[in-house]
Amino acid sequence: MNFELLQKDPKSKARAGKITTDHGEIETPIFMPVGTAGTVKALHQRELKEDVKAEIILGNTYHLYLRPGLDVIEAAGGLHQFNGWDRPMLTDSGGYQVYSLKDRRKITEEGVKFQSHIDGSRHNFTPESVMDIQRTIGADIIMAFDECTPYPCDEKYAKNSMEMTHRWLKRCCDRFDETEPKYGYDQTLFPIVQGSTYHDLRTKSAETIASFGREGNAIGGLSVGEPAEMMYESTDLVCSILPEDKPRYLMGVGTPSNLIECIALGVDMFDCVLPTRNARHGVLYTSEGIINIKNEKWEKDFSPVDPNLAGHVDMNYSKAYLRHLIRTGEMLGAQIASIHNLSFFLWLVKEARAHILQGDFASWKNAILPKLSNRL
Ligand code: GUN
Repeated sequence: MNFELLQKDPKSKARAGKITTDHGEIETPIFMPVGTAGTVKALHQRELKEDVKAEIILGNTYHLYLRPGLDVIEAAGGLHQFNGWDRPMLTDSGGYQVYSLKDRRKITEEGVKFQSHIDGSRHNFTPESVMDIQRTIGADIIMAFDECTPYPCDEKYAKNSMEMTHRWLKRCCDRFDETEPKYGYDQTLFPIVQGSTYHDLRTKSAETIASFGREGNAIGGLSVGEPAEMMYESTDLVCSILPEDKPRYLMGVGTPSNLIECIALGVDMFDCVLPTRNARHGVLYTSEGIINIKNEKWEKDFSPVDPNLAGHVDMNYSKAYLRHLIRTGEMLGAQIASIHNLSFFLWLVKEARAHILQGDFASWKNAILPKLSNRL
């Protein structure tokens, strides 16, 4: 993997760059659609490419390991072959499930014992096994195994957890460095900063993670219920410590406003289930604000969801029709709404990038931010 820093914004810490992987280039800042089970829900690959213009998608170690299972993915020749996505992919490590499945897991120094949310079967994840699993899945960028700490979280818990995540990182790096990719293309390992909302812990964690000298770095343990201001403070602090010449990935973030604010703090990569999950419930993001398409006010509104988006979905389907589809539970509703929301997220980061390159990011940010959280 290679990262080229192309431009820094003079009035903020925003950057434009380019990541090159064996599966192609990613222009940063970028939003990565989430495809937990090897599929971005409700979309097929042609829509992801041609409508959404996704450059990289996510998969999840815990979910793919349980279903379809590593034997199937390996027999297919890796996840790219299995799901037909020939552009870059990133897999998360299962560290988020340590947080989200807290009633179904036990953490020890050795690793995490999960009880499957599907059939109750028991599975041992260690830093070593998580590296092996991600070698078999075969994503271009793979994540270290960590504990995503909950919020709120007392300082003692946060410190112990962070230190364990650092020890696990050493084990991840050792295993990763002594193994080879399985499918003939390169993989790279990103470590994850933790430390909850404690500034001294975040500082320590960012310094430790930076000292491993990997090709990119991630910020975890945020957007888990803390106020947005606290997330921005931690992100700002961590970005000031992580090396400038490597991509910074803020995990699980966020709303359109979160993206713009965190781009301004120096973040290059984002992922979140928000655009796809909310789409399925009829919540749509637009350049003028947020629409709940189920509202009666859209019943006879035959205008496009977002007239500023020139994509196929926004050109061809009206709010009234999409409202009808979502209200009747038609599958096409979820599909169109997901394409729209993801197209909007990708449009937003592309706009941000264009304005960074053009040198007027700060004024663009000030103009668009108030609109993004409008309730239409
Ligand atoms: N996704 C969102 N936050 C996190 C985190 O802290 N760790 C991991 N592994 N994934 C995440």
